[in-house]
Amino acid sequence: MYFIANWKMYGNLSSINTVKNVINLTKKTKFKKIKIIYCPPYTLLRPLIKKLRKSKIQVGAQNCHTDNKFGAYTGSVNAKMIKSVGGKFVIIGHSENRQAGDTNFLINLKIKSAIKQKLNIIFCIGESLRENKKKKTNIILRNQIKIGLNNIKNIDKIIFAYEPLWSIGTGIIPNSKDLKNRIKVIRNFIKKNYKIKNPRILYGGSVNPDNIVSLNKIPSLNGFLVGGASQDSKKFIDIIKKSIN
Ligand code: PGA
Repeated sequence: MYFIANWKMYGNLSSINTVKNVINLTKKTKFKKIKIIYCPPYTLLRPLIKKLRKSKIQVGAQNCHTDNKFGAYTGSVNAKMIKSVGGKFVIIGHSENRQAGDTNFLINLKIKSAIKQKLNIIFCIGESLRENKKKKTNIILRNQIKIGLNNIKNIDKIIFAYEPLWSIGTGIIPNSKDLKNRIKVIRNFIKKNYKIKNPRILYGGSVNPDNIVSLNKIPSLNGFLVGGASQDSKKFIDIIKKSIN
């Protein structure tokens, strides 16, 4: 099971101390096999990596530029730079970045640049409320995957995260039946079109300690991408504990 903490644009140096309890949790036998990945803002990558050095918890960034060379791109950070400070993962295609201009085509370039740096990728896909209401979800998801992975042969390093836009930060999650079907559609599409037997597929969108029990009833999920609730280590631990029996 994967538990990925997406801190978004939250956190300062003092937030780093909050991971202490999560480090302690991973030392317990019961939790040794779970994979926890923190994705803080760029400013906290290095200090968090240092803090987690002796633990099994890994660290990633929330986005990257398409270009691996240095360049005149004000405000940007590339996959090579993320790797150079010890980052092992990068989230690509998050809807908040899609809304800020990331197209499927740009996402494809970003994934390629991250693969070149041997980073693991958390590839986010998801439909808007409008698309969902128009029953276009499956088409949208397949298209995001198809263009996002265009000309990419080796998808071993990719973890998929299904995050419906209408679920992110709203407290609303899809009902179990719909979510189960959605994961099935995604899984079948990936298996059919890419040489991978067991794609890792996570769910993200308003995951919290209250709804995690019902989300865990979907056995085809390989874990969760947690936004808001991951900034509070008590809630994050609660989510993990309720997922592992
Ligand atoms: P949320 O965010 O858990 O706050 O809804 C999830 C995400 O954006 O990855």
